[in-house]
Amino acid sequence: MKIKSDQTERLDKILASTGRWSRKDARELIKSGRVRANDAMIKNPAEKVNIKADAVYIDGELMVYRREVWIMLNKPAGYLSATEDGRGPVVLDLIPPEPRKLNLFPVGRLDKDSEGLLLLTNDGQTAHHLLSPKYHVEKIYYIQVSGVLTEDDIKKLRSGEIRLDGKPCLPADLEILNIGETREIKNQTPSDGQTRGAWSEARLILREGRYHQAKRMLAALGKPVFYLKRLQMGNIKLDPSLKPGQFRYLTDDEINSLRG
Ligand code: URA
Repeated sequence: MKIKSDQTERLDKILASTGRWSRKDARELIKSGRVRANDAMIKNPAEKVNIKADAVYIDGELMVYRREVWIMLNKPAGYLSATEDGRGPVVLDLIPPEPRKLNLFPVGRLDKDSEGLLLLTNDGQTAHHLLSPKYHVEKIYYIQVSGVLTEDDIKKLRSGEIRLDGKPCLPADLEILNIGETREIKNQTPSDGQTRGAWSEARLILREGRYHQAKRMLAALGKPVFYLKRLQMGNIKLDPSLKPGQFRYLTDDEINSLRG
């Protein structure tokens, strides 16, 4: 998929995308006659400007803006993948106010108890591409499950025979990393309590993003997930230097690889 790079956009939206002004303040600023695009003063906030080709000045000063922002967050457990929620912490709480003003939203979801790579952006078009079932963008997870994973589990995941909500899942890949020693296993939902038994570690590759997909697929094999961390989405790998709760901006190369 190619994203058009010659897009035009409303001037108030462009100003607001810098995070320095709200959309309302941007409109007031434009109406007050302090904004020029190239040689022309623009007083209509709805006027469209070419983001690549036109220079926008405020009080004569060239405006430097980042229209689309991409952030990689190492999501800690305990945070909802949402922009707001009256009931508890959300991933946007981990982002400082300046970038937060840019209308960031999480690209897909990780469950509240899941950890790892979560992308945040205000680029709806590319986010849609990453999430669309049409494109089968791969997501790689490190999982720990109760029970001993087997070659038969790998075959079942690959065959596409597991059905969720009546529909078959796309083939998924599983690489068994380790069969753990018997130990206490704290299941993810507190109601599941604590059990003692064999467990396994694996890397799971999914090509779609259905509700609780990893947990439901593994539960269908009788191997419930008790820990899940996303390591990769498309070409973007979780930066190992990010501690849980930390984030960084994607590099230009990383952003381009998402759009490729
Ligand atoms: N699949 C799940 O079940 N949970 C997640 O958080 C991500 C994928």
